[in-house]
Amino acid sequence: MKRLQGKTAIVTGGGTGIGEAICLKFAMEGAQVLVVGMPEDPVEDVVREIEKNNGQALAFKGDISSEENAQQAIKTATDKWGKLDILINNAGVFPEVNTLEQFSSEAFVNLLKNNVQTTFLMTKLAIPEMKKTKGCIVSAGSESAILGIPQVAAYGGTKGFVHAFMKGVAAEQAQNGIRVNVVAPGPIDTSWTHKETSGMDKEMEKTMVNATLMGRRGKTEEVANVYLFLASDEASYLTGSVYQVDGGITIAKGPIGKKVEEGILEPETNMNLKHERDGSTEIK
Ligand SMILES: NC(=O)c1ccc[n+]([C@@H]2O[C@H](COP(=O)([O-])OP(=O)(O)OC[C@H]3O[C@@H](n4cnc5c(N)ncnc54)[C@H](O)[C@@H]3O)[C@@H](O)[C@H]2O)c1
Repeated sequence: MKRLQGKTAIVTGGGTGIGEAICLKFAMEGAQVLVVGMPEDPVEDVVREIEKNNGQALAFKGDISSEENAQQAIKTATDKWGKLDILINNAGVFPEVNTLEQFSSEAFVNLLKNNVQTTFLMTKLAIPEMKKTKGCIVSAGSESAILGIPQVAAYGGTKGFVHAFMKGVAAEQAQNGIRVNVVAPGPIDTSWTHKETSGMDKEMEKTMVNATLMGRRGKTEEVANVYLFLASDEASYLTGSVYQVDGGITIAKGPIGKKVEEGILEPETNMNLKHERDGSTEIK
């Protein structure tokens, strides 16, 4: 029996990066997946890849920081599959890397809209459906909500909201049988952690990898594996937790990762991910 057989899942930010890996992994494990992304995201491509592997998925294009779009996304999933079992709040942005004095107010508003408002709205609007299925919610937190990281203070603040918010929702919703957890990734191999595609510079890239005990970025599939576990019935006694999927970056001090030979602890992965590094770090 597949681990999510017959479950309906919504994955926000499912067109690129970690979200793409979550969508493919969930579909492989028997879930019907609504792949939610911005109008320009390759969500149809992710659906095609799932269908090629005999999985079930549907694309939904829309900015889910708008209440209307968030409601429509939930309705699309329930109209199509009759219920909602799993909500993955993975959508997010990383629009600027700068010290606070330089950090633009435009980027701050963008962070609130896409990291905070999306998570608030999707969670709030999904709860009536989740009550019916005794479903579960897993949201994307971050190492930056645990550590103080220079030049990403505002981003870390929005992820701090996610950690605290989800714990509150977990406490409220346990009586309805709804489990609520957070995955807090460390540096993952998406567009966000490469100087060519984000605001990071060479120094920041190097510091980030060296500070990770494992001396490398995580693969998107390694993060998706933890989402899968938390969304499955195997995690039936887990709620209100923050799972750090970070190669150890949050527990050590100094460049411990430098001692690791490159690639030595890297697992083989076998999903056909085409958009791992296609996420944009422009203002959305
Ligand atoms: N990459 C990392 O190192 C890292 C580390 C810690 C946490 N995270 C978290 O993981 C999640 C995924 O990050 P990623 O690196 O895969 O980035 P990504 O840019 O590849 O994926 C994020 C997706 O969310 C979509 N999105 C953003 N706002 C949206 C909205 N309002 N409506 C619909 N879609 C929206 C984007 O278009 C994008 O496709 C984010 O929440 C991020 O904060 C990532």
